[in-house]
Amino acid sequence: MHNEYFREVGIKSNVRGYFLDHLIKGEEGGTLVYHDFIVKVIPDAIISMDPFLSSLMGLFPFRSCLLIMEPLSCYNWHTDPTRGAGVNMLVSAEGDPCLFKGEALSGNADKITVLDYKPDTYYVLNTQNDHMVVNARSIPRLTFSLEFFKDRNNKILSYSEINQGIYEIESSLMVSSRTPEKLTSVRNQIC
Ligand SMILES: [Fe+2]
Repeated sequence: MHNEYFREVGIKSNVRGYFLDHLIKGEEGGTLVYHDFIVKVIPDAIISMDPFLSSLMGLFPFRSCLLIMEPLSCYNWHTDPTRGAGVNMLVSAEGDPCLFKGEALSGNADKITVLDYKPDTYYVLNTQNDHMVVNARSIPRLTFSLEFFKDRNNKILSYSEINQGIYEIESSLMVSSRTPEKLTSVRNQIC
């Protein structure tokens, strides 16, 4: 799915379970407070285990973390002050969606677009549109998130620029995943 607010990345994650086992249940990674969240910093060694993230790191270097959102809390409408767009994934087994504010209706009412995270799936988020998260559950909500180094130097990477780079990563990884055996099988079906 692709709209002006978010896009689903076509390459699935293979490190979500590792995040849970080694960063949340284990002792790996430091904890700090960042933009009103408690976060667990993700070591680069874990990033290198995931084909999509390691490719993204090569194109747009970043640092990443797990955001730990308190039970029964909300992060109000905002645009991100230090990044043009983000790449997120829900790490919890289940969790509430991210909401993007649309056109105003009447009074305090607005239209919304809902990003309901699929399992093991990365999304590019246009964080220059107003967005918010409500964790209406009585357990912490865990998400993977990142910050591009280029953004930190005030050279804001745009949603479209990041998407263009990710299109190229998807094409490259999808081609490399077609093994010679699979190609032979496809060729035999065509002939
Ligand atoms: Fe945000």
